[in-house]
Amino acid sequence: MSGMADFIDPKSEWWRQAVCYEVYVRSFADGDGDGVGDLPGITARLPYLRDLGVDALWITPFYPSPQHDHGYDVADYTGVDPLFGDLAAADDLLAGAHELGLRVIVDLVPNHTSSEHAWFAAALAAGPGSPERARYLFRQGRGPEGDLPPNNWQSVFGGPAWTRVEDGEWYLHLFDPTQPDLDWRHPDVGDLFEDVLRFWLDRGVDGFRIDVAHGLYKVEDLRDQVVGQDEQAGSGAVNSTQTMVERDALRDEPMWDQPEVHEVYRRWRKVLDFYDGDRMAVAEAWTQTSDSMARFVRSDELHQSFNFHWLTAPWSAAAFAEVVEQTLSAMALVDASATWVLSNHDVERHPSRYGGGERGLARARAATLAMLALPGSAYLYQGEELGLEQVDVAPEHRQDPSYLRTGEPGRDGCRVPIPWSGDHAPYGFGPGSGQPWIPQPEGWGPQSVAAQTGNQDSTLEFYRRALALRRSVATTAGDEVAVEVVDTDLLVLRRGDLTVVVNTGSTPRALPAGEVLIASAPLPDDPDGDPDAPGTPGTGTPGTAGTAGTRLLPPDTAAWLADPS
Ligand code: NOJ
Repeated sequence: MSGMADFIDPKSEWWRQAVCYEVYVRSFADGDGDGVGDLPGITARLPYLRDLGVDALWITPFYPSPQHDHGYDVADYTGVDPLFGDLAAADDLLAGAHELGLRVIVDLVPNHTSSEHAWFAAALAAGPGSPERARYLFRQGRGPEGDLPPNNWQSVFGGPAWTRVEDGEWYLHLFDPTQPDLDWRHPDVGDLFEDVLRFWLDRGVDGFRIDVAHGLYKVEDLRDQVVGQDEQAGSGAVNSTQTMVERDALRDEPMWDQPEVHEVYRRWRKVLDFYDGDRMAVAEAWTQTSDSMARFVRSDELHQSFNFHWLTAPWSAAAFAEVVEQTLSAMALVDASATWVLSNHDVERHPSRYGGGERGLARARAATLAMLALPGSAYLYQGEELGLEQVDVAPEHRQDPSYLRTGEPGRDGCRVPIPWSGDHAPYGFGPGSGQPWIPQPEGWGPQSVAAQTGNQDSTLEFYRRALALRRSVATTAGDEVAVEVVDTDLLVLRRGDLTVVVNTGSTPRALPAGEVLIASAPLPDDPDGDPDAPGTPGTGTPGTAGTAGTRLLPPDTAAWLADPS
């Protein structure tokens, strides 16, 4: 039934501490040279992921799709778009990953279909009042002519969340007009997705990432959103810039996080549990509070929920401390494992968020080191191990539907294909010549995998060391974390025998006692040495318990310390 390799222990709950690497399928590796990444490209690069030291990969949607939102507009949930390969290529990828001990999570997009899905085509053809329309949210418009949208909701991608069709009815799309929202109150919808889950579980996937998991149900009467005077009616943001903690009051969100959605996940949990091999699901749920996030991971619902809290936290010890504390306490209430995310395909890459350039990269490495020490799983985004920054994509090359609807730069800048080798485009991305689907910048050669491999100062080798050390040290350090902020800028996280310190200030700080296991940058008392070689004299791991206070942690740097006892 499952096609799973023998290495999987059904009781291991591998996902609780996994490092999962997000593969943005269009931009990871191009097997056939057409300038767009694909499944054979990923399969060929699986050894790279194993050697990097991750446990799993999450692959963004590769199903048949007109690609208006780059696969998040699915026309057929049980196929593979010819752009990316075919079902045999998906099977090869699964088999290849399992052989190397890597798990595979695929993306499930249940909030909306593509406007090219057979159901939507049938709904348009069948007309108002038809059973075919009832699977989506078609409504009459407001105003005497019905030419005003049925309510005041805005699309996440900008503009009204409603589009009018030729016969005068409107349909809801919380994202692009090519992504009509399904009506989850219709029984066909739940049945379709149960079949889709089983289809991919039967092929051997280890889990699902649930797109817009908080969105499936809308308030039944589709009433207007109540907005404050200084707010625009909106449907929350896929890449909200407001942290949960910054909000003094919760927004009225009749389109998100409705209680009925949890019934869906209870049903899916039964399906997942029916299969052997510890299958799991992780929710993409942009909820307003840690507590509401925790509701998605109650023991009979999904296994994990992305924790986007860190994505929106500024570079500050206090903000990081709050993220860690709030997350761990919310997850402890439901006995779920935490997740941590610093970058993904919807947000500005974290070196750029932290100011860009050398300082941005130093901060990004420090934040990564803090994240990797924490209990729970870490979700990495392709290219962060290379220290890639957000690329300033020229307007004529931007493809993000949110750019097309709002004129804001959008998300293309974090989706530029990965540089693997060489000193000009496509930098080993594929066998073709010239630029891939989003042009790569000039001068990206030193960022490539080949250029960084073997250079111990590189971000890639830093990630490799950190991930290896996480396996041997962090995953056995227990679930309790003591969080402290010392004199405003020094974040100290203590987990079992492991202490993590992050200096978010502008002056060097004394390190607490302990053996330095790894640091995100060379430590100043041995600037020429390798900061990561544990316990070797003269290699940047100065001192042990007796020398506390003589070692310094520079600004924008983090270190892991082993308890001196
Ligand atoms: C979240 C996905 O991560 C994003 O890329 C997509 O545009 C929206 N959901 C809509 O499916």
